[in-house]
Amino acid sequence: MAVLKINENHVLSRIEPEIYGHFSEHLGRCVYEGLYVGEDSDIPNVNGMRTDVVEALRELKVPVLRWPGGCFADEYHWKDGIGPKENRKKMINTHWGGVTEDNSFGTHEYFELCRQIGCKTYVNGNVGSGTVREMSEWVEYMTFPGVSPMADLRARNGHPEPWRVDYFGVGNENWGCGGNMTPEYYGNLYRRYQTYVRHYDKTAKLKKIACGANVDDADWTEGVLRTCFKFPQPEEAHGFMDGLSLHYYVHPGGWMHKGPALDFDEKVFYTTLKKALYMDDLIRQHGKVMDKYDPEKKIGMVVDEWGAWYDVEPGTNPGFLYQQNTVRDALIAAVTLNIFNKHSDRVKMACLAQMVNVLQSVILTEGPRMLRTPTYHVMHMYRRHQGADLVESKLTGVKAVGVGEAPVPQISESVSVDGRGVVTVTLANLSMTEAETVRVELSGGPYGTVEESRIVASGDVHDHNTFDDPDKVRERDFNVAGDDRGFTVELPAASVAELRIGR
Ligand code: AHR
Repeated sequence: MAVLKINENHVLSRIEPEIYGHFSEHLGRCVYEGLYVGEDSDIPNVNGMRTDVVEALRELKVPVLRWPGGCFADEYHWKDGIGPKENRKKMINTHWGGVTEDNSFGTHEYFELCRQIGCKTYVNGNVGSGTVREMSEWVEYMTFPGVSPMADLRARNGHPEPWRVDYFGVGNENWGCGGNMTPEYYGNLYRRYQTYVRHYDKTAKLKKIACGANVDDADWTEGVLRTCFKFPQPEEAHGFMDGLSLHYYVHPGGWMHKGPALDFDEKVFYTTLKKALYMDDLIRQHGKVMDKYDPEKKIGMVVDEWGAWYDVEPGTNPGFLYQQNTVRDALIAAVTLNIFNKHSDRVKMACLAQMVNVLQSVILTEGPRMLRTPTYHVMHMYRRHQGADLVESKLTGVKAVGVGEAPVPQISESVSVDGRGVVTVTLANLSMTEAETVRVELSGGPYGTVEESRIVASGDVHDHNTFDDPDKVRERDFNVAGDDRGFTVELPAASVAELRIGR
């Protein structure tokens, strides 16, 4: 039996809601078909946005949505996506499948989507192939409230009011598809580009995100911070940026042989989870470099691309990155979100890649049909951590499970307390075959009651949802036994659970 001791009165950090963010790129069927079908579609929509998908996303409490990429952002020229749709440029999406991009989803459509979902906005600008002027004008177009060339253009295109840009990314993967730059070169460009990303909205400052490292490239983190951080200015004392990104994907068999989403053996299952747990090392590693420059943790680590990346589903376009999602993915989501919660003193935002039909999606669509993936259900259970306080918690008696070179701790957890004093405990059992008992004890009494307990579990880790069986893996109610000293949770093999304990 494992024992989880919680000190619910010892607050460690606030879990920013943005840690539960999402990412949508002009890639495969994410934006087109997945989110946007156009006003004339037979699929029910509001202003072109799929009603069924928007509804499911609202239930998820999506806090923020990053757009338009990804590598697509490095080649995106925003003026191609405004104005009458019939006049918008039709072009090739060179990076993703060589398909026609008709630009029918652009700036106005993105803000409409975020309005419908009810989430914050995170627009990613183009440093790789765009100009300083282009970026500067985009920010003016989106946010300038008065009379100006770009604000006038926005009004002529039907939106006199400015929008709110909560976050603005100055470049994407500039070490790779965003221009193959060195950290120093990018750092200097960052300083220059961000100068013209103006704060036109005086009610809320737009937050600037610099391009951070790929996986464990601490030299990139160091080089960018060294270049961007050493000229503090009184009003922007943390070196021109509010966040520094990090990208990390789990490829079970490595980048060249990722492996299928549905067909994996025990060894690959545990290797995948071990790779997911590596997120913890990465945050520590990059966090150490960030601490050197920013010991007060004013700059947030923004893990704006994370998730599992497998081979595409057989028969689908290799450039579309469409993959299925099993109980294994539910566990990846659970351990990663527990890790983010535990590091919420430094991690201020994270975006799962990607929202619909691409990589580790929460939703899959096929024509008019849609389904929620196992990852959706985990993110739904975990939504209660959004905006709550992470509190101290410690596990003992945890066994190692796994085969070969990939033993992993059987249990993963994190605990928060919300504004009403309700304690949310999230637990995952990473064993493919063994159930485990977890004894949960809070430090103060009386312990109150479990107001709600939910679980995502299924008979087989390969289980997944299909359009014919869309609810095979889903959240269900779950019984937890309480006594005067705490609670006893019987976690089935390969399961994720949530407990809400009232006072
Ligand atoms: O999410 C798919 C791609 O992965 C993104 O476009 C890019 O930023 C990353 O390499």
